[in-house]
Amino acid sequence: MDTIRIVGGNKLSGEVSISTAKNSVLPLMASTILCGDKCIISNAAMLEDVFVLGNILKSLNMDVQIDENSKRVIIDSSKINNTDPKNELVKKMRASFLIMGPMLSKFGHFKISLPGGCNIGTRPIDLHLKGFSALGADITIGHGFVEAKAKKLKGNKVYLDFPSVGATENILMAAVLAEGETIIENAAEEPEIEDLARLINSMGGKVIGAGTETIHVIGVKNLKGTNHKPIYDRIEAGTFMIGAVLTKSKIQINGINEEHLKPIIAKLREMGVIIEIDNCILRINGDVDLKPVDIKTMPYPGFPTDMQAQITGLLSTIKGTSVITETIFENRFMYVQEMNRMGANIKIDGRSAIIEGVEKLTGAEVKATDLRAGAALILCGLAAEGETVVSDIFHIDRGYHNIEEKFQNLGANIERI
Ligand code: UD1
Repeated sequence: MDTIRIVGGNKLSGEVSISTAKNSVLPLMASTILCGDKCIISNAAMLEDVFVLGNILKSLNMDVQIDENSKRVIIDSSKINNTDPKNELVKKMRASFLIMGPMLSKFGHFKISLPGGCNIGTRPIDLHLKGFSALGADITIGHGFVEAKAKKLKGNKVYLDFPSVGATENILMAAVLAEGETIIENAAEEPEIEDLARLINSMGGKVIGAGTETIHVIGVKNLKGTNHKPIYDRIEAGTFMIGAVLTKSKIQINGINEEHLKPIIAKLREMGVIIEIDNCILRINGDVDLKPVDIKTMPYPGFPTDMQAQITGLLSTIKGTSVITETIFENRFMYVQEMNRMGANIKIDGRSAIIEGVEKLTGAEVKATDLRAGAALILCGLAAEGETVVSDIFHIDRGYHNIEEKFQNLGANIERI
């Protein structure tokens, strides 16, 4: 199995270009089930998860072409005739649950294996199912499967107990071909949801208010094919920003949206990092004195849970005490013992990590426990003294395209073995 080997200590310099967002491309691909025509997602991130979802859609008899050279995902759903996706693929990836909403909307039926994915908590899907029930679906769960049936979906008011990203997306997609109006209240406001609504509207759907806490979906009878470019990956951009600061470097990051990065930029500036922004370009200077900060992860526009491990890595090198509180997932500190093996001094107290900054990290053999944790260990390796080897990097490939190549181009001593 591949590992990533890093010899720490090199300063980074130059430019890196950010890919489009994994968390956009996946729901966008799932939404093409609704379409019944040809859709093109251009400039798509060529990630492992994208290929897995592509194969799941193929198992529904959709025609899916993922062209790595042109970075286009071309999906023709006109021949879709199957509502039983291949379950060994579904189990591979948590985001496969995103096909539930569109399948229910299009066919009034789905049956899928309860999804797998990153090892960061139990991650139930009760809110998704509650929304489907409100639209008129009968849900049954048993033998590891969830099945939903509806003669006719009808728009309704759905209040989410928590602004779940996946539940918002799934209920929104289920409502697209339903009869009448659906109102999702306490919806997640993540930019990826706005992106999904943009694609659905360009297919002829009627979604109003995505990106705010109340979303209105007015059901339409059918949709048409379209061409869509997803938003940039704010988490990938944030990961490179932290990489620059950890290595006390100055780099330029191309392909950002300042609005989407606000919570990350605000915290880094509070620490003392110098950041300049010019449209879609961000220049970051981490060669400065830094202060510890306290952070609480929150739903957007709060500080993203998907940046928690990376910023913990950074704070572990800043003199003083920082506290990070994780409010979204109950089990997202599994990487801490790996970071401590690299010399960090982090203690867990309930849902908080108490970080005492150390003089330096030291290279070690460590294991990626999930996607973002894996990226954080790479960042620590870039700053650590000596050699770090990160194993289980299949987690990292799910969400970062050629991460080692991008860091090599910035001057890091990093390779895939
Ligand atoms: C999405 C992102 C993931 C990110 C997360 C939070 C994708 C493909 N993944 O995941 O990268 O970390 O948002 O920003 O977009 N919950 C329930 N019941 C439900 C649904 C969720 O209790 O039915 C809970 C979860 O267990 C978790 C919290 O709500 O504690 C947030 O989960 P959610 O926003 O749904 O995350 P995902 O959509 O799975």
